[in-house]
Amino acid sequence: MAYDAADTDQVDHEPVTDWVNDWDWLDDQWGSNAIDIWNQVREQCPVASTERYGRAFMPVTMEGVSAVANDTENYSSIWVNVSRPDSPRAPAPPITSDPPEHHGHRRLLLPWFNPKKVAEMEGVMRQYCRDLIAKLDGSDTAELSEQYSQNIPVFGICHLTGLPESDADLYRDWISRNFQLGPKNNAVKLEIMHEMTENISAILQDRLDTPRDDMLTYIANAEIDDEPVSWDLKVGYVRLQIIAGIDTTWSAIGSGLWHFAQHPEQVAQLVAVENDHMLWNTASEEVLRYYAPVTMARKVIGETEVSGCPVHPGDQMLLTFPAANHDPDAFEDADQFQLDRAKNRHVAFGLGVHRCVGSNLARLELLVALQEFLRAFPNYSLDTTKETVWANGQVRGPRNIPVLLNK
Ligand code: HEM
Repeated sequence: MAYDAADTDQVDHEPVTDWVNDWDWLDDQWGSNAIDIWNQVREQCPVASTERYGRAFMPVTMEGVSAVANDTENYSSIWVNVSRPDSPRAPAPPITSDPPEHHGHRRLLLPWFNPKKVAEMEGVMRQYCRDLIAKLDGSDTAELSEQYSQNIPVFGICHLTGLPESDADLYRDWISRNFQLGPKNNAVKLEIMHEMTENISAILQDRLDTPRDDMLTYIANAEIDDEPVSWDLKVGYVRLQIIAGIDTTWSAIGSGLWHFAQHPEQVAQLVAVENDHMLWNTASEEVLRYYAPVTMARKVIGETEVSGCPVHPGDQMLLTFPAANHDPDAFEDADQFQLDRAKNRHVAFGLGVHRCVGSNLARLELLVALQEFLRAFPNYSLDTTKETVWANGQVRGPRNIPVLLNK
């Protein structure tokens, strides 16, 4: 086993050569090749395993992923990523809570993400995208992650919650360290936990002292069943907004832009129709299916099995929603990106009780970001002289998208 509890940074960094028996979601090959990796594993067996983080499993079929996501008796969300087992883990409800407590936490947040509230943001979101696009005016090239996709979800979350947009770089730094380094290194995890707790506590205290009409003030005063929520959990609600709401949608927008930069024929089809045409919806849902960014995890808490593979309490289970989205038993021509895919029951936003609370917001941001950019630069293309780097691990997506604007 590659895990040594005495060390702070002890997980095996050797490149993976056997994805069925020794997978690692932080391996350099994962980011850019994950879809091929899942497809190859699925041809050999429905569930892969590794010992790099203690014992952990990875189902790659829709059947296996659904079975785990829908089973809250045998799987707990107290561990939501595959990390070393002694990794420090901060509460971030509802995502880190199990039923029955989960229900109260989720109910508390849901009204802030309802379709009506989110739809009201369309105008400001569109204007925000147009302002970013205006800054590209006169340029021949652009780096669309830095100049476009990474900014939009921060704007969305800050607009919705009241968090300061001026801390955007700080949020992105926390997220990147948390997902890319944290699972292998306890010192990094602890550092981020403390930084976030300190920063969020100060913001919540400010809302108690000077209430505003925003989600942060609501969280600062949160109660469940007339009982005040503990401070730790209030901090956790905000921690989750930052961790779940930024690089997830950034990755989806980025993947869409990266894809369409290489498919001018699909861009031409899209810009030929109005924004409310069905094709825009099927196209952005297909981006979510094909390039689903989010992989979660569970801690096994019961003796059970997944797709015939026995698992035991203390094991970790990767919840590979993106792999399920490529299962040929669940999707016709699963390996093809179809702009007008009509039947598309993808699981990019998860399944079961933890299904994404922010899906309305994420969908709005993705659709508006693609519409505004593709209409402004219908002839843009990927700059193939430069390499695209993909983030691996929990949230997978392109972290740089070099393009020629071809205005
Ligand atoms: C394309 C963008 C997004 C994707 C692909 C995505 C994906 C997911 C997935 C797969 C889950 C299920 C977690 C699990 O089963 O453990 C989830 C949960 C969640 N997401 Fe998202 N998400 C996105 C954007 C957002 C945004 C913008 C927010 C806003 C803050 C958000 C907030 C949440 C919350 C609060 C949960 C926890 C729900 C619960 O535990 O009941 N997500 N998301």
